[in-house]
Amino acid sequence: MITSMWSVDKNVDKDFDYPQIKKAAQLLRDGNTVAFPTETVYGLGADATSDQAVQGIFNAKGRPSDNPLIVHISSASQLTELVLHVDHTAKALIEHFWPGPLTLIFKKKPGVFSEMVTAGLDTVGIRMPNHPVALAVIEEAGKPVAAPSANRSGKPSPTSAQHVYHDLNGRIAAIIDGGETGVGVESTVLDCTVTPPMILRPGGVSAEEIRDWIGEVVVDPSLEDWDEKPKSPGMKYTHYAPTAPLFVTKGSHQWLQETIAAYQQDGKKVGLLAPIETINHIKADFLVACGTEDDLSTTAHSLYESIRAFDEEAVDIILAQSVELRGIGVAIMNRLVKAAGHKWLIEHQDDRSL
Ligand code: TXA
Ligand code: MG
Repeated sequence: MITSMWSVDKNVDKDFDYPQIKKAAQLLRDGNTVAFPTETVYGLGADATSDQAVQGIFNAKGRPSDNPLIVHISSASQLTELVLHVDHTAKALIEHFWPGPLTLIFKKKPGVFSEMVTAGLDTVGIRMPNHPVALAVIEEAGKPVAAPSANRSGKPSPTSAQHVYHDLNGRIAAIIDGGETGVGVESTVLDCTVTPPMILRPGGVSAEEIRDWIGEVVVDPSLEDWDEKPKSPGMKYTHYAPTAPLFVTKGSHQWLQETIAAYQQDGKKVGLLAPIETINHIKADFLVACGTEDDLSTTAHSLYESIRAFDEEAVDIILAQSVELRGIGVAIMNRLVKAAGHKWLIEHQDDRSL
């Protein structure tokens, strides 16, 4: 398959006729897969009502079929045709956070979606992305668009069209290049079918922000205790992983430098991924500065690009410094721990905070 690549200005005017958007929408209506930017990461879209179209997503990504997809819409008014009930809590969340990085789980209307979208569940995850290009494509397609992150399954999510091209060239019909994404980690997944609502995946909207708006919110216990089976099907897979083994670290700069030196004495090339404050103090074979500790949104923004950078370098081991578990730091730590396959290196053994 030849993959077309089209550029569209990020500030696309929704009412203006862009030929790239029209072509992409036509491809979607015809049952093809198209990658497009959202405010979180690039998505790989397909018509959520068509089995054949959705199968195309699973084929291109190599994604396990028991991992449901998020459905993207361009207007909250579409919800009534897609789900059974939107209660007042969900309404309040939609009014405040949509368009934005918050996916809400509802009971689905039967017979609307391809069964593959929901992996046979009676619920569906829906979000309205805050990105003019995504909204224009979805609206023009006139269909709900299923869209997981546009990476090969298991790899870090793409935050630029080049990442999508690297992973999926020849496997999908088209890529719309709208530049770098903003948030950098995926949407928060919140189950609205339970009371109080439960966070199934931490993401672009923090638990604190949701609580400020609707009061009580709980977090899936498996996110804090890795021995429990996650409620959200996709959360059990190793994800976001670079080629070299990655360890999450927690400890002082001095301990970290000694740990790196010990690996180097064993003949290993060591890569370090950390906020700039740490990078400035540590020596390793390959250093990747990922945002600042002061503003973790900058760390989230460049997290996946930073993890991908190690695949271009011949390092034997990657150490990734943990960040504080507050705000978007919870999503960053969730992704790092998954990229590490839960491998930690900790200075003080009782200090593991996940
Ligand atoms: O930011 C995002 O959400 C990105 C962009 C492209 O919009 N999309 C994304 O989709 O991350 P995906 O398919 O990679 O994430 C889907 C995850 C599943 O692995 C699962 O954890 C959760 O969303 N999910 C989807 N439907 C669900 C359902 N019915 N019940 C529980 N969890 C669900
Ligand atoms: Mg994904």
